[in-house]
Amino acid sequence: MTRRAGRGAETGRTGRFRKGSDAVETVALLGTGIMGSGMARNLLRAGLGLRVWNRTREKAEPLAAEGVAVADSPAEAVSGAGVVLTVLTDGAAVAQAMAAAVPGLRAGQVWAQMSTVGVVALEELAGFAREHGLVFVDAPVQGTRQPAEAGTLVVLASGPADPRLDPVFDAVGAKTLRAGEEAGAATRLKLATVGYAITLTAAVGEALALAEGLGVDPDLFARAVTGGPMDNPYLQAKMKAVLERDFAPSFTVHSAQKDTALIAEAAGRAGVAVDLARATAARLDRAAARGHGAQDMAAAYFAGPPDSPR
Ligand SMILES: NC(=O)c1ccc[n+]([C@@H]2O[C@H](COP(=O)([O-])OP(=O)(O)OC[C@H]3O[C@@H](n4cnc5c(N)ncnc54)[C@H](OP(=O)(O)O)[C@@H]3O)[C@@H](O)[C@H]2O)c1
Repeated sequence: MTRRAGRGAETGRTGRFRKGSDAVETVALLGTGIMGSGMARNLLRAGLGLRVWNRTREKAEPLAAEGVAVADSPAEAVSGAGVVLTVLTDGAAVAQAMAAAVPGLRAGQVWAQMSTVGVVALEELAGFAREHGLVFVDAPVQGTRQPAEAGTLVVLASGPADPRLDPVFDAVGAKTLRAGEEAGAATRLKLATVGYAITLTAAVGEALALAEGLGVDPDLFARAVTGGPMDNPYLQAKMKAVLERDFAPSFTVHSAQKDTALIAEAAGRAGVAVDLARATAARLDRAAARGHGAQDMAAAYFAGPPDSPR
């Protein structure tokens, strides 16, 4: 049973829903990219009624082959659904998809906005929800491709604790962390956590580039930091990506650029200096300019001049 948690409280998997139960609402999921497709598979596995939509329909076809209903439009996806989820690139993409969903929306539907959109877009989307009588839950996620596929994301939630979302959050996440009662609180938490992840990744890339540039064997760097107080799973994952030159995306350079901009936007409003986010944004911009935008953000390693190997 979910604890109706207050600010900063955590809930584990609620266990409210059992596979095969018909006691829950149909879920419409807009966006089957890296995160949305993994989340869709876990919603399907949990036995939830699911309908997805993706702008580029072909990318949703693998899900169709696995038994997921793929709608032709956002309006068709949300029509009759009790729960609407958005897992799209940014606030503009979410606003466009939800505007296109309007003919299928009805007052009282619960909308969990799970993309990372930042504080300004979040306010606009909350306004759209009010206008259409939707129950709006700010619910960005922490975790990347592998946790999305494994159903072990951390859902950062704020806004109403609507029980229709319990089986959904249980299916996609290992836990739900309640950030507060007001939409926006979870987005602010998300900006802090993703800022930490992105700057850490840039630090790994820069340290490896520095080691190599100084003629240091990068394996020696790896041996020096592994197992000691500087070690952490993120270092290991991103260092492996760089050393093996495997930049298959879990979280792209483009997405990380978007998030550093959202961090700067929020920090500017709050009067906070975010030097590391800004420096990381510069590294990411250079990596993207060198053609690494669609690769994993570990490619922030490639931030040197265009003719540099790193
Ligand atoms: N990947 C991660 O590690 C991670 C972790 C936590 C949070 N997030 C957040 O989750 C969200 C999705 O990330 P992702 O990694 O899954 O991204 P992704 O793989 O690039 O997928 C982006 C999705 O947004 C759609 N889209 C983009 N612009 C659109 C538009 N104008 N109208 C309609 N659809 C549009 C794409 O459709 P097409 O297929 O047609 O391009 C695709 O479905 C982002 O906000 C991201 O910051 C990602």
